[in-house]
Amino acid sequence: MNPQELIQAFEKKFGAGGEPRVFFSPGRVNLIGEHTDYNGGNVFPAALSFGTYAVARKRSDGNLKFASLNLPQEVERGVNDLKNIPEDGWTNYPKGMIQILLEAGLPIGGAEFLFWGNIPNGAGLSSSASIEVATAIAMRGLYGGEASNQELALLAQRAENQFVGVNCGIMDQFAVAMGKKDHAILLDCASLRFQWVPFQLKDYELVIANTNKKRGLADSKYNERRSQCEEALRRVQTHRELASWGAMTEAEFEAAIPWIEDPILIRRARHAVMENQRTLQAVDALKSGNLTTFGELMNASHRSLRDDYEVTGKELDALVEAAWAQPGVIGSRMTGAGFGGCTVSLVKRDQVESFMENVTNLYREKTGLTPDFYLAAIADGAKELSV
Ligand code: GLA
Repeated sequence: MNPQELIQAFEKKFGAGGEPRVFFSPGRVNLIGEHTDYNGGNVFPAALSFGTYAVARKRSDGNLKFASLNLPQEVERGVNDLKNIPEDGWTNYPKGMIQILLEAGLPIGGAEFLFWGNIPNGAGLSSSASIEVATAIAMRGLYGGEASNQELALLAQRAENQFVGVNCGIMDQFAVAMGKKDHAILLDCASLRFQWVPFQLKDYELVIANTNKKRGLADSKYNERRSQCEEALRRVQTHRELASWGAMTEAEFEAAIPWIEDPILIRRARHAVMENQRTLQAVDALKSGNLTTFGELMNASHRSLRDDYEVTGKELDALVEAAWAQPGVIGSRMTGAGFGGCTVSLVKRDQVESFMENVTNLYREKTGLTPDFYLAAIADGAKELSV
C-alpha cells in the first residue's frame, strides 16, 4: 500500500480531519554476528525494504487508539494507563514503546494509530522492533522533541526488555532505526560505535528463506542462552578482568576455558567469542571485495550456532544444508535469534531460480514444510514518508 492509500484507510477507520502523517520503520536481516549483541560484541545487520507503516494523528483527550490492517484486534487506552496485559495482544508493543517514552520524559500525548506491515510475522526479521520504532518516530513526529533515531532505538530496546519481557540486545532496534540503503551496519554493541559499510553484491543476490516453523518457546530459550553466557563470564571474572565476551581474543579464551569448567557454558562462550571475531573478519573481507571469504564465514557462523550455541534446530539446519548443496551459493546461515525463523544466503544472480526450486524440494523432503523466499533489498532506516 502506498502512503495515500494508508491515509484513506486511516480516515475510514478513525474519520477525516486533522493531519494524519505516515511513518515507516523497516525489518532487518542480520548478515553475521549472531547472539553477540548482548555479549558486548559486533553485529552486522541491514535494514530491509519491507517493514511497518504507521499512520498517526494527534488526539486532544489523552487517549491512544490502536488499529491494524493486518490483525483484527483494536485497543483504546489512556496514556497514563499502559500496562502489559495479554488480552491487548499485539498492541502491547506500541503501548510499551509509548510507556517507555513517557518514563524517559519525552513529549507524548493522545493519538490514533493505524498500522500496516509487510514483514512476515514470527520470521525473525524483527517485526517487533519495527513496530516499536515506528511508534517512537510517529510520537516524535506528532509531539516533537529532540530524540535522535539512535536514542529512540535504545528506548525501544528498553520497551522490549522491561515492558514486553524479552531480554534482547540492541541489534534489532538499532538496525531498523539506523539503516541506510545499500549499506549494512557494523555495530560494536559495547560502545555503540558503528559504521555503514557498502553492501553491493554485483553478481550475487541476498536471498532470505523462511523455514515457516513456528518459533515456540523461543523467548525462554533466548533468555536461557543469555544467562548461560553471563554465568560463564562471571566464572572468568573471578580470575581476571573481562568486560564482556566481545573484549576477548581467541587465544585469551583458550586460556580461560579451565575457569569456566562446565562443558555447556564453555561452548556458549566459545560461540560468543568466535562469532565476534568472525564478524570483524567478514567485514574486512567485504571491504576488500572478497565475497567468497565473507560467505565461508557465514557458513562457519551457522555451524557454531548449531554446534556450540545450539539455537538452530532441524528446520534451520535442513534449509541451510539444502542451500549449501546448490551451485552458485557462496554462503548460507540462520539469521536472528534462531529456533525457527529465516536463513540468509548469498546466491549467484542467474542461479536464484534453480536455487529456490531445488531448496524447496530438498527442504520439503526433510521436514514436510514449504519455505518462502524473499529477495531482499537493503533500504533506509525509520523515517517519515511524504504523502
Ligand atoms: C534477536 C534479538 C537480538 C539478537 C538476536 C541474535 O533478534 O532481538 O538482540 O540477540 O536475536 O543475534
